[in-house]
Amino acid sequence: MSRATADSLRVDASRLWARLEALGEIGAVHGPNGERGCARLALTDADRDGRDLVVRWMTDLGMAVSIDAVGNVVAVHAGANDELAPVMVGSHIDTVRTGGRFDGNLGVLAGLEVVETLITAGVVTDRPVAVAVFTDEEGARFQPDMLGSLVYVGGMALEDALDVRAADDGARLGDELVRIGYAGPTPCPAAGAPHRYLELHIEQGPVLEDEGVAIGVVTGVQGISWTELTITGQSAHAGTTPMRLRHDPGFVAASITAGVRRIAAELGGTQVATVGRCEFSPNLVNVIPATVTMTVDLRNTDEAILQDAEGRLAHLCATLAAAEGVAVAQRTLARFEPVAFDPAMVDLVEATATALGHRTRRMPSGAGHDAQMLARVCPTAMIFVPSVNGLSHNIAEHTEPEHIAAGADVLLQAVLACASA
Ligand code: GLV
Ligand code: MN
Ligand code: MN
Repeated sequence: MSRATADSLRVDASRLWARLEALGEIGAVHGPNGERGCARLALTDADRDGRDLVVRWMTDLGMAVSIDAVGNVVAVHAGANDELAPVMVGSHIDTVRTGGRFDGNLGVLAGLEVVETLITAGVVTDRPVAVAVFTDEEGARFQPDMLGSLVYVGGMALEDALDVRAADDGARLGDELVRIGYAGPTPCPAAGAPHRYLELHIEQGPVLEDEGVAIGVVTGVQGISWTELTITGQSAHAGTTPMRLRHDPGFVAASITAGVRRIAAELGGTQVATVGRCEFSPNLVNVIPATVTMTVDLRNTDEAILQDAEGRLAHLCATLAAAEGVAVAQRTLARFEPVAFDPAMVDLVEATATALGHRTRRMPSGAGHDAQMLARVCPTAMIFVPSVNGLSHNIAEHTEPEHIAAGADVLLQAVLACASA
């Protein structure tokens, strides 16, 4: 195929959209104002049903599908020389409980659309093209996040990953894989690295929409620090215990929540801080709680500042524990340093989008992605498309079809560029 023919290839955006809609029906959540979201937590029955559908699509395209020991699905579309390492495209199809239909799903289904476009046009690339679905990217049910891709690149021992317990029902990850039929025979970590890795994803924030830019050129991913705090105090009667004699974990949890907001304000820049989970026990109106378990999510593009934020959180917890007479135990749920993507791959995404006539903007990713793990083993880049109202991890998550099409075409052309030997 001539370069001119390759340059003129475009995805079938309506076919991609139809797959997004069909996958989005599995675990569908409907909101009161017409929102159409998705609850497909990792390794639940809904995740299994979503995987089954995607695997069927992969098989229908004639791809060679393998499932590895941590449940990652990798489907390979042959190239002219299958001795060469593949160009890999991928993402995840698990969602948070209040998720949307695009987060992760887009990267996987755009990968299938790239493959189907190549097949339909009769284009054979030098290298194979692989489409990956990584297990438990969200980390909403099993921590850490990006668990499947982390094990894939050798960043976490398989046995440790299989022993992780679910935050909701305590189920063991390895048992859940077996239960849903996705404990596969392919060894993980993977035997060899892909030649290149590309991931198309929604931005999940408001910047591209605000600036009227169709394509975000992702320069890297900010560092992530997840901590679980268990605060233990003295449970007592809410009416009879004078305020001065309390050891109240609920008060400390509220103070930590306000405190992390203060830490983010003090550090400024890209620092963000979130308390996303907080559970009181016994959680009754007239009982001072015995324990509170809560999570703190800290992120920064700068590792030194992220460490500063972690230090301030530890100091805050120690100060509050001493003042209130409670114990605060810390457990790290996830910790990943900031990642910078390969400069040549970033340039490629930018040049490809520009050649297709799109306005672009370089930006770091605020969210975690499988790409940050693949970046450990091969040159990697990401393409962002706008999120309406900047919303994600919300059932109102939406991306306009024209932006889905634009991102998928950039992905297609970037794959073509990477897949020539
Ligand atoms: C994953 O989506 C994360 O960034 O929390
Ligand atoms: Mn995602
Ligand atoms: Mn997500």
